[in-house]
Amino acid sequence: MDRQEIIKKTELFVKKTLSEDSTGHDWWHIHRVRNLAKRIAREEGADIFLVELAALLHDIGDYKFFKGDEEAGAAKVGEWLSSLEISPSFIDKIIEITSRVSFMLSLPDKQKGRDKKNSTIPTVSKELMSVTDADRLDAMGAIGIARAFTYGGFFNRPIYDPAIKPIKSITKEEYKITEAPSINHFYEKLLKLKDMMYTKLGRKIAKRRHRFINLYLKQFFKEWKGKM
Ligand code: ADP
Ligand code: NI
Repeated sequence: MDRQEIIKKTELFVKKTLSEDSTGHDWWHIHRVRNLAKRIAREEGADIFLVELAALLHDIGDYKFFKGDEEAGAAKVGEWLSSLEISPSFIDKIIEITSRVSFMLSLPDKQKGRDKKNSTIPTVSKELMSVTDADRLDAMGAIGIARAFTYGGFFNRPIYDPAIKPIKSITKEEYKITEAPSINHFYEKLLKLKDMMYTKLGRKIAKRRHRFINLYLKQFFKEWKGKM
């Protein structure tokens, strides 16, 4: 099987698996992440085939689909790749990316304390950097805002409640179970992403998207108070 065939088959598999989702994990998210990840990968001199496959599969194993099980995702990705003619060592490289891309993993554990980041994070490859930056960028800017409210609406969250303050230094455990209004998510995740970019291009795009989120929030709170 040549590389193009592997990509085409994986694309169809991902489309089918995510076709029912309306929480922000839809096919078009994958499409955007794939294209942006490839663009970043070209700038970084990363392996484009590895980046493209990992980007296509990065949300297949999301823990949210497996009732909080973080291992099940890797198993699902591995199962799919084993059905193609791909070497086990290359499969490992893909899983290494898909299992580490999540924002949640970057949050501190409760028992380690809010101030301490997870300290045992191994080295980050150019390929992991490309996919992670692209995924995080898709949670920012105009599209990121749309995705946050789509997610919130799906889970019946209010848009905003002044009585429920955001937890800016949220832990992994708190992040997993939060039922806070969607605006809180901006402070708990979206506004942090700018400083979490790994690549030069990622930082450049993040800067613009970050600015747009801030502009949006400014307008939001003006309207909330009946001004403007
Ligand atoms: P990804 O890591 O692929 O961007 P996530 O599973 O973290 O996906 O979330 C999907 C989308 O929903 C993202 O745009 C994310 O910012 C948004 N989202 C996640 N959790 C919340 C939340 N508690 N409230 C509002 N939006 C959320
Ligand atoms: Ni994603």
